[in-house]
Amino acid sequence: MELRWPVVEEAVRRARAEEGGPLCAYLYDLPALAAHARALKRSLPHPFGLFYAAKANAELPILQTLAGVVDGFEASSQGELEWLRSQFASKPLILSGPGKTDTELAAACRLGVELLHVESLGELRRLALIATELGRRVSLLLRLNFPLGPGHETSLVMGGRATQFGVELEQLPAVMDFLAGQEFLEVKGLHFHLLSHQLDAGRHLGLLEEYLRRFTELRAKYRAEWSHLNVGGGIGINYRAPESQFDLARFSEGLLGLAGRFEAEGVSVRFELGRYVTAACGYYAAEVLDIKRCFGETFVVCRGGTHHFRTPQAQGHSHPFRVVPIEDWRYPFARPKVEGERVNVVGQLCTPKDVLAKDAPVERVRVGDVVLFPYAGAYAWNISHRHFLMHAPPRELFLREGGEAC
Ligand SMILES: Cc1ncc(COP(=O)(O)O)c(C=O)c1O
Repeated sequence: MELRWPVVEEAVRRARAEEGGPLCAYLYDLPALAAHARALKRSLPHPFGLFYAAKANAELPILQTLAGVVDGFEASSQGELEWLRSQFASKPLILSGPGKTDTELAAACRLGVELLHVESLGELRRLALIATELGRRVSLLLRLNFPLGPGHETSLVMGGRATQFGVELEQLPAVMDFLAGQEFLEVKGLHFHLLSHQLDAGRHLGLLEEYLRRFTELRAKYRAEWSHLNVGGGIGINYRAPESQFDLARFSEGLLGLAGRFEAEGVSVRFELGRYVTAACGYYAAEVLDIKRCFGETFVVCRGGTHHFRTPQAQGHSHPFRVVPIEDWRYPFARPKVEGERVNVVGQLCTPKDVLAKDAPVERVRVGDVVLFPYAGAYAWNISHRHFLMHAPPRELFLREGGEAC
């Protein structure tokens, strides 16, 4: 997705001028999000469908922008499920995630999720009781965890090794035995979400081939009538080298080649992508409050920090940024600045872990300029420990056509 720097920088300058005080805000470029989502959807040929994993960012304007493009939404809690259903009465919904409570399972039945992704035999047993009691038939996918072939490691894996996710293959016979007598449960297929942060289109295509092999092998083994395969999310964002992102065109070409094989097997496939859908539409803007030197290093201290924007700490990277110059200096002393140096960009928290960017080169940064971090539209504000130290929250600005914010 193309970053519209001039539009966003202009919105930052406008917000700063309106606010007067040190700016701290999330900005979401909704027209860019809409264009990206449409391009993504177009690049997935039949029989590949697209759901959006709301956990990446469930702000209403984001969901509203996506609702007309994606085939449905994936929720991973009762809270997400109820939020999505309250806003989109007829949009297909999925419920997934480990450790579902009875209340969550009952809510899923009541709210009419299209498919429930089951994580374990224990969960299946409870779901069977709840569905029977409510007299509702529930369609589900079984989430599996199994060993992957070589070359599928990323920095965040949910399967292919010991994790809390899915049913391992050794337990599948017991699960299938249990399902045999269940009047209210209908298994439509399988769910594989084994990794996130995939940056390589070729490898992701290879993973899908492996998924197809695994699906057809298990379907034959258990003589099942499965027709649905959910291949999870997992397409990543390259925060470390933002100029080299996942090659969507190559991926799309590869999918065209794979589509016939899935169709020949009668399998309809669904992606439930989060990060790749919304990360690039969001920006975190934090005004520089102070510039300090310490033990030979330079620290640019901003209004905000990891309690607003935990993404770099969560992923262990130094986040890329740009400096937006602000020509407004109101103090009767020289404006502190650094030029042509390497700096650490930090926040206001009382912990040395409050670092957003480390050892990053800057041409110039001054107190009162705004540091603007891109790729902050997914797993950013919503994963941050916002109550720590009780600082004021960032503003949230949603940019519409023409750059107008609301
Ligand atoms: C079950 C499931 N599906 C989809 C996703 C979305 O993954 P991503 O944001 O990497 O696309 C996640 C993320 O953790 C998940 O747990």
